[in-house]
Amino acid sequence: MRKIYIFDTTLRDGEQSPGVNLNTQEKVEIALQLEKLGVDRIEAGFPAASPGDLAAVNAVARAIKNASVMGLARSVEKDIDAVYEALKGAEDPAIHIFLATSPIHRKHKLRMEKEQVLETAEKAIRYAKKYFSRVEFSAEDAGRTELDFLCEVTSLAVREGVSVVNIPDTVGYLNPAEFGNIFKTLKENVQGIENIQLSAHCHDDLGMATANSLAAILNGADQIEGTINGIGERAGNTALEEVALALATRADYFQATTSLNLKEIARTSRLVSKLTGMVVPGNKAIVGANAFAHESGIHQDGMLKEKTTYEIISPDTIGLRDSKLVLGKHSGRHAFREKLIDLGYEHLTEDQVNAAFGKFKDVADRKKNVTDEDIRALIEEKIIET
Ligand code: KIV
Ligand code: ZN
Repeated sequence: MRKIYIFDTTLRDGEQSPGVNLNTQEKVEIALQLEKLGVDRIEAGFPAASPGDLAAVNAVARAIKNASVMGLARSVEKDIDAVYEALKGAEDPAIHIFLATSPIHRKHKLRMEKEQVLETAEKAIRYAKKYFSRVEFSAEDAGRTELDFLCEVTSLAVREGVSVVNIPDTVGYLNPAEFGNIFKTLKENVQGIENIQLSAHCHDDLGMATANSLAAILNGADQIEGTINGIGERAGNTALEEVALALATRADYFQATTSLNLKEIARTSRLVSKLTGMVVPGNKAIVGANAFAHESGIHQDGMLKEKTTYEIISPDTIGLRDSKLVLGKHSGRHAFREKLIDLGYEHLTEDQVNAAFGKFKDVADRKKNVTDEDIRALIEEKIIET
């Protein structure tokens, strides 16, 4: 099994979610939980952004012992200096520098020709290498960069001795076949590529961040960048829990694994949601409230007979206690009877159960979710009393 490195950017790209602002204590709390989860690299923030972020990155750097702590910098000396300052005291510090490479960004944002982009990247990497033994370089908007120019930029970064070249699909524009092809092309055309790690950083604007990250893995990516719950700029980043569970569930297909302690996933998701204030949608893969809930009678009957009929992941894999059979209008008699037993009504006669099931269907037609309290009330008032 090939190991895929997990680079968590919940505290940097994740914090760029509109409306999210984490203070130092919150960042440290999340970082400590990420350390328990077993991520390899934690991008703690963007120290040049504000004195507060620099201080928060420093607090994370000092608190974390079992993951590399990293800071983001544009390809300018003052940003690199800020990361150096922020990572003082870190056990295993590393810097992440970026520069846009796509024609749109070169023309409208940087106002640079290709040659100037190459010169700026070279200068920044050389400057960063004075402080850091591990440098990651990102070609921002790589997804919309000409492939031959991306090869040129990557060759330069490899020559200058970076450890990781990151390929961001900054605006979530590509599909899996296209994104995978970038990795294949870099692997085939860049001299010395075997000496560095290639990384994928995807955004979810078209809902393809996880699929694109997996395509990158299939084409040789060594590292996946993303966030817990997929939070991040606009539609968010790759949800790391999705990639980790895809690899774990389909190890037969991907032949790759992570070092994550999967049992910490549910706890990490809840903490990030609580501290960022970003509610996890019920139907979110892996960590949504409905990810292990079953409502239809046919599914519930299958689950009661054998869980693998309708669950490809057992909830305890991610640290949850059990699946939920949710009673609603699609539920069947089998699940209803199990619920009665759970609630202590195992002594009801067959006729009483049948009558209760009829009443339950009436309630279920009126309410989206029938709660335990509804069922207790129905049994006590309508079945036992009569
Ligand atoms: O999406 C992006 O391009 C980024 C870079 C800073 C890596 O977040
Ligand atoms: Zn990003």
